[in-house]
Amino acid sequence: MKNTPPPNTADNKSDPPKNDAGRVSMLWATIEHAEELANCHKSLFDPPWDQASFEQFLAHPGSTALIARTGNPQETVGFIVGQLAADEAEILTFGVRKDWQRLGLGRRLVEGLKRAAQRGEAKKLFLEVADDNMPALVLYSRLGFKDVGRRQAYYKRADGKTADALVLSLTL
Ligand SMILES: CC(C)(COP(=O)(O)OP(=O)(O)OC[C@H]1O[C@@H](n2cnc3c(N)ncnc32)[C@H](O)[C@@H]1OP(=O)(O)O)[C@@H](O)C(=O)NCCC(=O)NCCS
Repeated sequence: MKNTPPPNTADNKSDPPKNDAGRVSMLWATIEHAEELANCHKSLFDPPWDQASFEQFLAHPGSTALIARTGNPQETVGFIVGQLAADEAEILTFGVRKDWQRLGLGRRLVEGLKRAAQRGEAKKLFLEVADDNMPALVLYSRLGFKDVGRRQAYYKRADGKTADALVLSLTL
């Protein structure tokens, strides 16, 4: 007799549907998105940036920010905020909501900001990253960023510990 598995075994129970990165749009963020940005940031960073901080950054003439949006109603599932000054650009904050990670959105956000920096005639793109942030370090390395410096005990963690920041740079 054929060994047919009963319903709801590991063999046939359906996995929850995977989020569809193909339905995510990358849009330029404006001050109106500050609250959504703060909510998304809060889920990823401690301490988080509040709405007022995002409003302040987005009001700055050199700021460039992209948000990854999807769904109906639309929600923000990722963001990147950068700053352009003279011929240098910097990534100030960047993240993808946990349930949307490993789907290529981080790469798309960095590449979008990189194109914006190139259009602004920046020659280098800089960022700081904690030296123990493996996912981000792998992503930046894949995108060609190089290690150009270290800031000792730059990040203060909620548990009182500190982490060094690596300064990375990409030639545009
Ligand atoms: C870092 C971060 C933005 C990456 O976003 P993401 O959407 O998951 O990244 P992507 O799906 O575009 O990943 C691109 C590549 O980066 C690497 N990568 C990303 N996350 C990784 C992980 N957890 N482990 C190993 N490699 C990883 C992989 O090479 C991946 O390609 P692959 O999935 O084909 O193997 C996300 O992990 C995050 O929001 N982390 C918390 C906030 C943060 O640390 N921000 C950066 C501060 S400097």
